[in-house]
Amino acid sequence: MVQLMNGKKLSETMQLQMKETVDRLKDQGITPGLVVILVGEDPASQIYVRNKERAAKKVGIYSLVDREPADITEEALLALIDRYNQDDKIDGILVQLPLPKHIDPQKVTEKIDPAKDVDGFHPYNLGRLLIGDATRIPCTPFGIMKMLEHYGISPAGKRAVVVGRSNIVGKPMAQLLLQADATVTMAHSKTQELKEITRQADILVAAIGKANYITGEYIKPGAVIIDVGMNRKADGKLAGDVLFSEASEIAGWITPVPGGVGPMTITMLLYQTIAGAKAKRG
Ligand SMILES: NC(=O)c1ccc[n+]([C@@H]2O[C@H](COP(=O)([O-])OP(=O)(O)OC[C@H]3O[C@@H](n4cnc5c(N)ncnc54)[C@H](OP(=O)(O)O)[C@@H]3O)[C@@H](O)[C@H]2O)c1
Repeated sequence: MVQLMNGKKLSETMQLQMKETVDRLKDQGITPGLVVILVGEDPASQIYVRNKERAAKKVGIYSLVDREPADITEEALLALIDRYNQDDKIDGILVQLPLPKHIDPQKVTEKIDPAKDVDGFHPYNLGRLLIGDATRIPCTPFGIMKMLEHYGISPAGKRAVVVGRSNIVGKPMAQLLLQADATVTMAHSKTQELKEITRQADILVAAIGKANYITGEYIKPGAVIIDVGMNRKADGKLAGDVLFSEASEIAGWITPVPGGVGPMTITMLLYQTIAGAKAKRG
């Protein structure tokens, strides 16, 4: 029978441990600080930011949401980031994506001090990840590795297939699995015979952005299925990239949507903010 990888529960456990760490740091006069910069009024972004703020406060992190108007200039946003780069109270800077069209997200990412880049998207941090010496790791793949570890699933020697090659999920995910000694294949929209490839996967990560795309016929019996997808359906409900009803009949392990990868992403954001605070103060 399939076993659930419960990201919500693991997140709660990790956040309790983090609260203890933060309390200890506060006793030493250190309060980890996180700023989330939100540009404009995108409704989904508003929800994500609220959730991040709530989680940060729960673990005792000093948390600031800086709301900026949609017409802020790129120059002004870059200057704002620079101010937070210099601000000693801030250990983590996150700029919520997507940004309005007149702002280049790459310029914004590159403006963040790599030491405060809690999202792990800065080219410096992605480069360090590539050479196997990362200090900041994109939160979603980092959270997935934590979940695998928690459930005692070692990627070593396994065949892993990552479907999706975005810079924030697919590519760093493949690197982390490779570093954990899996044999990794990356697939994308131009991949031929996708099913033939995914059916060989002992660990299958779906990061596609298409609701219920991975049906039972894509899955090897007993496989570990990680569903990164967060697709909003017409009825407002969330759907993963994996058709849970079919996959759960075939897989050995599976992450649900919601309650799987999503909560872990926020938890790793807090984790990296605390790590930043510790590193800065030695
Ligand atoms: N749970 C979380 O915390 C979390 C965090 C981040 C993202 N997400 C969700 O994860 C999903 C992916 O996010 P993303 O930012 O990585 O998306 P993205 O930048 O849109 O990338 C999607 C990837 O999927 C590939 N793809 C699209 N259609 C495909 C198909 N039919 N067959 C195979 N590959 C296909 C694309 O290939 P090409 O490169 O060839 O176009 C691309 O590499 C979304 O649903 C997003 O909401 C969740």
